[in-house]
Amino acid sequence: MKKAFIFDLDGVIVDTAKYHFLAWQNLANNLGISFSEEQNEQLKGVSRIRSLEKILEWGNKTISEEEFTRLMTDKNEEYLEYIKKMDTTEILPDVPRVLDYLISKNQGIALGSASKNARIILEKVQLQEKFEAIVDGTNVSKAKPDPEVFLIGAKELGISPENCVVFEDSVAGVQAANSANMISIGIGNRQVLHEADYVFNDFTEIKEDFINNLVLTKK
Ligand code: G6P
Ligand code: MG
Repeated sequence: MKKAFIFDLDGVIVDTAKYHFLAWQNLANNLGISFSEEQNEQLKGVSRIRSLEKILEWGNKTISEEEFTRLMTDKNEEYLEYIKKMDTTEILPDVPRVLDYLISKNQGIALGSASKNARIILEKVQLQEKFEAIVDGTNVSKAKPDPEVFLIGAKELGISPENCVVFEDSVAGVQAANSANMISIGIGNRQVLHEADYVFNDFTEIKEDFINNLVLTKK
């Protein structure tokens, strides 16, 4: 049976949260707003626009539309400086093993990310060729927890949603997968991701037997 396996990017394939953190922290501090790693956690899976809105809310700041646009551009430019230096060593443990196993079993593989930088990052870590479909922040109009990004991925692979499996590290992403009627697999903390159908700390815990069972299971 052919199923589709849809991977989120940030926090699932690569740990880019640390770069988002540095760039958002710099922006916040320049505005006189403090920004902690705990707050950065709350921005996982959250779109660029919404992230800046949240930071401004935390700092109780109001700015003009022009300033808002300028800050988003500045943040992204700084983020891209970190991204430029990325290479294959930044792929999270056992991601290539799972991707290659799925490919060897003729399963569909898609990327479902909120990031507008997804394609650049995939190229940097040389994984773009593993994906039959890439859906990113440039293709969607509604942010996670809306299921749009995953539904487009399923459609591009020609697989119905109940035959899709989503790997996600964010709460919003798990909710998006669930409301798309897909199997949700949380990568990260079990307490945080308790709405997921399954949760693993990372891909090293995802064994071939488990994947074989997924191929046979419907939501
Ligand atoms: C992912 C990350 C978020 C980020 C969003 C947009 O969901 O987890 O932290 O804000 O993508 O990314 P972008 O690269 O387009 O700013
Ligand atoms: Mg993520």
